[in-house]
Amino acid sequence: FGRVVEYHDAIDSTNIRAKRLAEEGAQSGTLVVSDCQIAGRGRRGKEWVSPSGTNVFMSLILRPDILPGSASMLTLVAALAVHEGIRQETGLEAFIKWPNDIVANGKKLCGILTEMSAELEGIHYVVAGIGINVNMEVFPQEVSSMATSLYLETGKKVRRSSLIASVLEAFERYYEEFISQGDLSGLISVYNSCMINAGKEVKILDHAGDYTGKALGINEKGELLVEMQSGEVKHVISGEVSVRGL
Ligand code: BTN
Repeated sequence: FGRVVEYHDAIDSTNIRAKRLAEEGAQSGTLVVSDCQIAGRGRRGKEWVSPSGTNVFMSLILRPDILPGSASMLTLVAALAVHEGIRQETGLEAFIKWPNDIVANGKKLCGILTEMSAELEGIHYVVAGIGINVNMEVFPQEVSSMATSLYLETGKKVRRSSLIASVLEAFERYYEEFISQGDLSGLISVYNSCMINAGKEVKILDHAGDYTGKALGINEKGELLVEMQSGEVKHVISGEVSVRGL
């Protein structure tokens, strides 16, 4: 991964650029990195704070054989890779907040936006967009209660290029495991050991009605298993709900 890298000083969004490159036939593993983004995007159409000089904004093009169900699973693979890269570079014990945020002290260090194209015929790809708050010292007021950076958590500045290299190396390892199984079964235990909500009571905010239960961990599809008081185990699918710790 990352053998083909396209670097920008500034770009609208690395995800937009990576999707364009993928449409043009870029190979799996191609990486787009930018120092800053003019129109960085988060999930649910939100803006992603993307200033220059401090953070990591990157998008990886993947062409797994097992589309389309794999896109949401790949988001979890990416979260594992970022978690591992952060651990290697800083020693910080961050956590994964299912499905794909990386948090420390209850604040977000990294977000992942995975986008997929899977027409019946034609081009199939997934773009995994990763934003990591690395050396940022001050966040805009709207997000400062929810966001943190590696620098704010550890007091040390991190070399963005080494962090990217560590994340890619971990990504490659986890991705191979994922591809060899066709699902996340080989990664369940490592994922659950990094997950902040594992074994804890959670509240699931679902448009069909909120409920609480104990988060048991993920299954091979990356769904969150939540045990209700009745003993029934619900399979929570990412993208449809929001999870809160209690
Ligand atoms: C989230 O809302 O948690 C997802 C944030 C994803 C941000 C990254 S930064 C690199 C890539 N380009 C984008 O415009 N978004 C993703």
